[in-house]
Amino acid sequence: MRLFIAIDLPWSLKQRLSHLAGGLPGTRWIAPENYHLTLRFIGELPPHRAEEVDLALAALRARRFTLSLSGVGTFAKGGRITSIWVGAERNPSLDHLQGKIETALQRAGLEPDRRRFAPHVTLARIDTVAEARLAAWVQAHNLFRSEPVPVEHFTLFSSRLGKEQSVYTAEVEYDLIAAS
Ligand code: 2AM
Repeated sequence: MRLFIAIDLPWSLKQRLSHLAGGLPGTRWIAPENYHLTLRFIGELPPHRAEEVDLALAALRARRFTLSLSGVGTFAKGGRITSIWVGAERNPSLDHLQGKIETALQRAGLEPDRRRFAPHVTLARIDTVAEARLAAWVQAHNLFRSEPVPVEHFTLFSSRLGKEQSVYTAEVEYDLIAAS
């Protein structure tokens, strides 16, 4: 199965984010129920390896924290813009959790993920977009800032191809430790 680890977002925040969507022809907006912040992309794993990953994640200890999203931006590949996203505010607890997950997965035998962690929530994938319109969209939404939301667990998701978009299923939730 195709797996990734992410922070699911409260519905109220998904709704707020959904107000950023629209007004850009050539974009495929993500359905709000699918918004998430990826902590680690895993990819295809056979069931027995997925079980090892589950065990490693279940043994992980990290504290709860709050997360704020702020600003918007774009990713490009080969000079072409491929997605637009909302960023996460700098957050040492988030970085700590991501680091612990990376360590746990390597202990479970996965290859290291060498990409720099750039926490974001993807809002849309882009086919072709008029540059001026995209620049206007970024400018219009750049001051976006969410309320801080509590992060009390992280989630192992599976992903399968749907008709229009991938379908994400929360397979396991892993609790974070309450601050004492
Ligand atoms: P993205 O939102 O920046 O595209 C589920 O597909 C999640 O895993 C998405 O949030 C996506 O990040 C990320 N993802 C998908 N394919 C990936 C890949 N090949 N490498 C890294 N991350 C990937």
